[in-house]
Amino acid sequence: MSQILPQDQIDAWQEKLADHQHPMELAVDVLRAIQHHHGWVPDEGVELAARLLGTTPLKVEELATFYDKIYRRPVGRRVIRLCDSICCWSRGGEDIAAYLQKKLGITLGETSSDGAFTLLPSCCLGACGEAPAMMIGLKLHGNLTVERIDQILAAEGGEARP
Ligand code: FES
Repeated sequence: MSQILPQDQIDAWQEKLADHQHPMELAVDVLRAIQHHHGWVPDEGVELAARLLGTTPLKVEELATFYDKIYRRPVGRRVIRLCDSICCWSRGGEDIAAYLQKKLGITLGETSSDGAFTLLPSCCLGACGEAPAMMIGLKLHGNLTVERIDQILAAEGGEARP
């Protein structure tokens, strides 16, 4: 289980959760710690979180699949969440989606062959005034154009493909 989360972190979570009146309040934080270390949350991560939280894997799984920033499958080093809701769609979101897919060489839901980027559709990111918008990790990028996408991807670690 140490590959999922280092033993010192497991010990720290056990200590923290033992003192917590409602451990489930920290369930997402535990999942995020696992994801931060492992890159995503495999079944073993759900089982470890359940043991730490004193609950069932099913309850942890319900949370893990509810939160769209918890990944239950492997993802690239950076996850792009591209808004496909109405404001972005009406301001050129489809063209932006097409450009991103072409540039990364993947369709929505896939990871680039070099493992650099995963591209996911997302409902409204709360940046309708800056539509079209996307998030890379926790950073929001609005007023997207193809030129801005080129700049953003270059700044995020270079081209996805050699
Ligand atoms: S509709 Fe795209 S950010 Fe709201």
